[in-house]
Amino acid sequence: MQRLFFALWPDQVVRARIEALAAGLRLSQGRRVPMNNVHITLVFLGAVETAQRVCVESGADKVEADPFDLRLDQLGCWPRSQVLWLGASVLPPELTRLAASLHQGIARCGVKLDPRPFHAHLTLMRRVRRARRGGSVEPVVWPVGDFALVESITRTEGAAYEVLKTWGLGGERAPESLSS
Ligand code: 2AM
Repeated sequence: MQRLFFALWPDQVVRARIEALAAGLRLSQGRRVPMNNVHITLVFLGAVETAQRVCVESGADKVEADPFDLRLDQLGCWPRSQVLWLGASVLPPELTRLAASLHQGIARCGVKLDPRPFHAHLTLMRRVRRARRGGSVEPVVWPVGDFALVESITRTEGAAYEVLKTWGLGGERAPESLSS
């Protein structure tokens, strides 16, 4: 079994922009997500068997969605899950289509999916006990041209993520396609 999820995975340039933004926020309480780990989950799959992984990968092959620019311009806090996140005040329709198309593509794979509506967010901090007021921030613009299947590996020091495979949007080939 592997613990998997589909995500938007930023490249180093976008990561550096997010890092600069997070540094400017002077976040004191809670636990910062290491910059190499930040991402936006599209679909969380949880523990998946090999046959299911083959099925979800074939579902991802059928996804139809165009590339888009994602403008991350909003901070928010979820007190129950104690996370501080970065999100978009305007959700690009291509992103909504991508998440819906992916859901549809993997619906037949026997994976229990989260029934809650998709809420695009990039977790910056966990264990934030005192909710911080959300609001606008200087936008980070992320040109999204692909999405990824990622494995989450639980380690004592926290989760480690490994990108297993990427898919390009708009019929483009992803810059890298790592298969394992
Ligand atoms: P989060 O950032 O809001 O915690 C890997 O765990 C990714 O999957 C994280 O981005 C996490 O979102 C997301 N995720 C969604 N549902 C999850 C669940 N039930 N358990 C763990 N992670 C989940």
